[in-house]
Amino acid sequence: MDNREISQAVIGRLPRYFRFLGELKDEGIERISSQELSDIMKVTASQIRQDFNNFGGFGQQGYGYKVEYLYEEIGKILGLDKTHNLIIIGAGNLGQALANYMNFERRGFLFKGIFDNNPDLYGKKIRNMEVRPMEEMDAFVRENEIDIAVLTIPKTSAVPVAERLVRNGIRGIWNFAHVDLNVPREVQVENVHLSDSVMKLAYNINRFEKGERS
Ligand code: NAI
Repeated sequence: MDNREISQAVIGRLPRYFRFLGELKDEGIERISSQELSDIMKVTASQIRQDFNNFGGFGQQGYGYKVEYLYEEIGKILGLDKTHNLIIIGAGNLGQALANYMNFERRGFLFKGIFDNNPDLYGKKIRNMEVRPMEEMDAFVRENEIDIAVLTIPKTSAVPVAERLVRNGIRGIWNFAHVDLNVPREVQVENVHLSDSVMKLAYNINRFEKGERS
């Protein structure tokens, strides 16, 4: 199955399926119908069937889905059956918070290094890593088979740093800097803007209040 044929909207829903199925698996639930999955996930059963049909279905008519099998298959589609080596660029508030969040490792995302250009931070221990100077970044990426870089630096520095990462063979950038990165098509970028999420929340609060009044 070539994932490029599948819409980003479907891909965007897979992590949520994966999360819910992981919880069901941990609760010892072995089998679930699309209707039951629909009830707990608050997605229509037909949406679930359509989504899964992109990957050949996964279910058996009248039998439902085998939770563990589905969990593993979605994990494979998401590339979570492999481990990924990550570095963080920018050891400030956000970089440190991400480095300290242990759950990424459970999913196979292994933080190997954290870099900053502030000499006051060099050598500072953040969980199991010491902050390294940016001068060491290029060789570190090549020598430690780093596939993903997390950018938690200001937007003014993100573009040149991303270019350096690309030159050193990075495959993915998890970009928290508020700037669009122009990278070759073989490098994947996922932009994260927490503020977009809170603005969506504000919109929904607003919309609900207007609806209540009218
Ligand atoms: P911070 O100021 O605590 O940390 C930034 C770190 O980057 C500092 O340690 C600084 O020395 C380092 N840095 C600056 N230029 C660098 C360079 N060229 N190379 C290496 N290190 C460099 O800031 P915070 O709160 O951690 O936020 C980091 C960035 O992420 C900010 O630009 C902020 O706007 C953004 N941000 C994005 C969010 C999102 O949802 N996308 C949420 C929060 C922050």
